[in-house]
Amino acid sequence: MAVLKIARMGHPALMGVARPVSDPTEPGIRRLAQDMLDTMRDAPGIGLAAPQVHVPLRMVIYMVPESRTNDSEGQPLTVLINPEITVLDETTEEGVEGCLSLPGMSGKVARPRHIRVQALDLDGNELDYEAEGFHARVIQHECDHLDGILYPMRMTDLASFGYVEEMTKPSE
Ligand code: NI
Repeated sequence: MAVLKIARMGHPALMGVARPVSDPTEPGIRRLAQDMLDTMRDAPGIGLAAPQVHVPLRMVIYMVPESRTNDSEGQPLTVLINPEITVLDETTEEGVEGCLSLPGMSGKVARPRHIRVQALDLDGNELDYEAEGFHARVIQHECDHLDGILYPMRMTDLASFGYVEEMTKPSE
C-alpha cells in the first residue's frame, strides 16, 4: 500500500496535458492504479487522476457511491486509461463539485448530463459505455485533470465557490 502525495491547485503537475499510456498492461501501470486507489481511499475521495499524484499520464480512477447520487446508479471502482469522452446530450446540469486538489472547497459547475466514454482497462480491454447525471459529472471532472483543467476553471459564477465548512454554517 502506498499513499501518494496529492498536488494542490497551483502546482505545475496539475497544469499540463498528460500523455497517453503506451501499454496499459505494463506492471508499472497496475502498480500506479493500486497506489492511486490507496491514495483516493486515504483522502478520502471518489475520484483521482494520475496528474494529481504527479504522474503525467492519461489515467483516472473513480467510483460512485450509492449515497452520493439520486440521479444515477452507484458505480464500482473503475480504472480508465486513455479515456475519450463524447458528449451525447449538450444539455447541461449544474452540480456541486469538490476536488482532492482543492481540499475543503466546493463550487457549482455546469456539465453535459449524458456522455459516452471510451477507454482501456488494465488488461488492455476496450471499454465503451454511456454515463449520465452524477456518474457523467465524475468522469468529466476526472478527465479534465488530464488536460490541466480544474473545476473552478469551468465555473461561470464564482459566488458558489468557497469553503465547505463555511457554507454549512447556518446564516446569521
Ligand atoms: Ni479533481
